[in-house]
Amino acid sequence: MSEPVVVTHSCASYPVYVEPGLLTQLDAIAGEQLKDKRIAMIADAVVHQLYLQGRLGRVSWSGETLTVPPGESSKTRDTWARLSNQLLDRRFGRDSGLIGLGGGVTGDLTGFVAATYMRGLPYILVPTTLLAMVDASVGGKTGVNTPHGKNLIGAFHPPAAVLADPLTLATLPEREYRSGLAEAVKHGLIADPHYFDWLEAHTAEILSRESHVVAHLVRRSVAIKAEVVSQDEREAGRRAILNAGHTVAHALEQASQYELTHGEAVALGLIAECVIAEHIGAASKGLSQRVGNLLNRLGLSTRLPRPLDRSAVIRGMEMDKKNRGNSIHLALAARPGEMYRRTGWTTAVSEEDIRAGLAAVEVA
Ligand SMILES: NC(=O)c1ccc[n+]([C@@H]2O[C@H](COP(=O)([O-])OP(=O)(O)OC[C@H]3O[C@@H](n4cnc5c(N)ncnc54)[C@H](O)[C@@H]3O)[C@@H](O)[C@H]2O)c1
Ligand SMILES: [Zn+2]
Repeated sequence: MSEPVVVTHSCASYPVYVEPGLLTQLDAIAGEQLKDKRIAMIADAVVHQLYLQGRLGRVSWSGETLTVPPGESSKTRDTWARLSNQLLDRRFGRDSGLIGLGGGVTGDLTGFVAATYMRGLPYILVPTTLLAMVDASVGGKTGVNTPHGKNLIGAFHPPAAVLADPLTLATLPEREYRSGLAEAVKHGLIADPHYFDWLEAHTAEILSRESHVVAHLVRRSVAIKAEVVSQDEREAGRRAILNAGHTVAHALEQASQYELTHGEAVALGLIAECVIAEHIGAASKGLSQRVGNLLNRLGLSTRLPRPLDRSAVIRGMEMDKKNRGNSIHLALAARPGEMYRRTGWTTAVSEEDIRAGLAAVEVA
């Protein structure tokens, strides 16, 4: 196995292994990482069907498995209770460990079951979507949604290890794959100019999911997120840069009634926020163009699919929890790999600036 990327958090650290073919050794690796534990796997039902029952046979796993129906609607307290009850029924005790196989939904759920079952079990994440590999598996946040909003009930409980096998991405629907790429572009933009250049130089191999190129992309993105969160675990200060593009993106997702995927909204949010940065002189002209070109070449749209009510989007941004005082604060890039830092990691922007940013992503 090649060297893992190490994510450090306040109590300890955990390895993120990224390697094509890794999951053909899952049984053995899980046994090593969760030594002397009785292990249960919690798996996304689609991934379970494809990789544990189907002919793909890329995941070696012979232990007990609980499945979760695919999709965000499974990320609830009801599913958490059902999974916990199933573990109790099967008499899993304090000496147990869990494996979460699937996208961010399964990962967040498995992590939350692990955080609460018998006051906390160790667990391994096996992300099978690009978004889960580059984003959801790093940082230790676990939880479920409620009718009041997403991720409102949860716990901070980092995994013991993460195993990402880029070969599993072969079956990921195109739209899901591209959504993950928006986060990779964000990582280059906020922290690493060389990575941003590399993304620009490898768009064809990335789109064809060439496994070694995807492995590099996942490793770089994980390393960048890991570096940011390990410096600033509980999201004061620098961690705000991970929110680049996201203040606009969350408001767009909401205003589109979740017609846009998270990644599609992040692509639009990155463009809008780069335009805002140019507008206030935080970034030089041309940044939004460069970021937009890269997103386009990665198959992500830089225009909204249909008109949205701009005032509703702005109201959505005002609700964003990162606001201080009355003004909207954004984490703005100055150039690829470097954040604008005049007044800290985020900058207050006016409604007029925001309108200029939103206009740039309006239907042409
Ligand atoms: N904990 C964190 O820090 C963090 C960060 C970002 C996002 N998230 C959470 O992650 C979730 C989104 O994650 P996601 O985009 O992975 O969604 P997801 O888990 O719903 O997966 C998307 C879809 O892809 C399918 N799928 C997964 N792997 C597949 C594969 N290899 N082949 C074919 N189909 C496959 C799933 O069945 C599902 O339908 C959200 O709930 C979000 O809140 C958490
Ligand atoms: Zn995101």
